[in-house]
Amino acid sequence: CHKVFYDEGWVRLGKIKACFARNYVRYYERIRDFQTQPDDIWVSSFPKCGTTWTQEMVYCIATDLDFEAAKIGLQKRFPYFELRANWSPNLTKIIADNVLKSNNNSSTEDENKSFFLNSFDLVDHLERPRFIKTHLHYSLLPTAMKNEQSPKMIYVARNPKDACISLYHHFCLMDGYGGSLEDFVDAFVQDTVFCGPYWTHVREYWEIRDRPNVLFIKYEDMKKDLPSVIRQTANFLGVTLTEEKVERLTEHLSFESMRKNPAVNYEDIVCNMRSLHGTFHESKFMRKGKVDSWKDEMTPEMVAKLDAWVAKNKIMGLYEK
Ligand code: A3P
Repeated sequence: CHKVFYDEGWVRLGKIKACFARNYVRYYERIRDFQTQPDDIWVSSFPKCGTTWTQEMVYCIATDLDFEAAKIGLQKRFPYFELRANWSPNLTKIIADNVLKSNNNSSTEDENKSFFLNSFDLVDHLERPRFIKTHLHYSLLPTAMKNEQSPKMIYVARNPKDACISLYHHFCLMDGYGGSLEDFVDAFVQDTVFCGPYWTHVREYWEIRDRPNVLFIKYEDMKKDLPSVIRQTANFLGVTLTEEKVERLTEHLSFESMRKNPAVNYEDIVCNMRSLHGTFHESKFMRKGKVDSWKDEMTPEMVAKLDAWVAKNKIMGLYEK
C-alpha cells in the first residue's frame, strides 16, 4: 500500500477490499445509518472522473440556472459526504487550524473549517434539496441509498487510463506525493490507490444503472456532446430547460469557464494544501480537461500494464479497452 497518500494506510471495508483511510472505521456506522431525504440529489464517482464538472452541471440544472447561488464555493453548496473520514483526527485538525482559508469572502473562518471538520454534520444541516457528493463504492453507501425509492443519484464514469493520470497529478498537487508515475501506475493496477479498486467502483454502479433513481453518465460523452448530457440530466431530474438555457449552461460548464471560476476550480485549496505539504507541483485542479491525456505522459511499459489490467477487468459495453 502506498501510505504516502494517507498517514494511516488502508482499510478493508464491506465485502470488497476498498482502499479508504483507516479512519473510516470510526465513521462506518455514521455512514451506514445516514438518514436521507427524498429530495436529496447525490453525485457519485471514482475520484478524478469528472465529479466537479457533474456537480456543477447538476446544481445549475436543479436550481434552474441560479448562477448567483453558484458563486458560493462548490464544497459548501455540494459537500463531500465522507470527507471527514479521509484523514486522521490529528491531520484533520492541522488542516483545519493552519491552512484552510476562505474561497468565499462572505463566509466565516468557522464555516470554512466546518467542511473539513465534520462533513457529516454539514450535510445533515444543508438546506433542502441537499446536494451531496460521494466517492464511496455503492456497497458502502448509507443503507437508505440502496433501493429504488432512494434519492436520485448521478454516477459519472471515466476511462481508467485518464482516471489514473488525473489521480496521479491530483496526489502530486494536493497530497504531496513525490513518487514516480511508474510507481503510481503500479499502485493503480494493484488496486491500492485511494477509493480503489477502480473496477469494483464502476461495476457496482453500472449494475444498478437501470434503476429509476440512478443516472449513469460518462466523462467522454460530456466531452463529445455536453448539451445532450445536460438535457438527459435535466430530464432525469424532472427539470425542463429551454434550449437557450442549455446553451448558457454549456458555456458556464466549458473547461475554460470552469478553470477560471473560483467557486469550482479549488485554487484556494490547492494553494493551502501546497503550503501544508511544502511541495510544489506544476499543475492545476482543472488540469487538461481532455480525453486520452494519458497518451501525453505514459510510456509504452505503463500502457502495457494498464492494458493487461483492463483486459482482465473490462466491463462489456462500457470500457472494454
Ligand atoms: P484532468 O486531470 O484530466 O484534467 P474530479 O472533479 O472528479 O476530481 O475530476 C477532475 C478532472 O475533471 C480533471 O481532469 C479536470 O480537469 C476535469 N474537468 C473538470 N471540469 C471540467 C470541464 N469543465 N471540462 C472538462 N474536464 C473537466
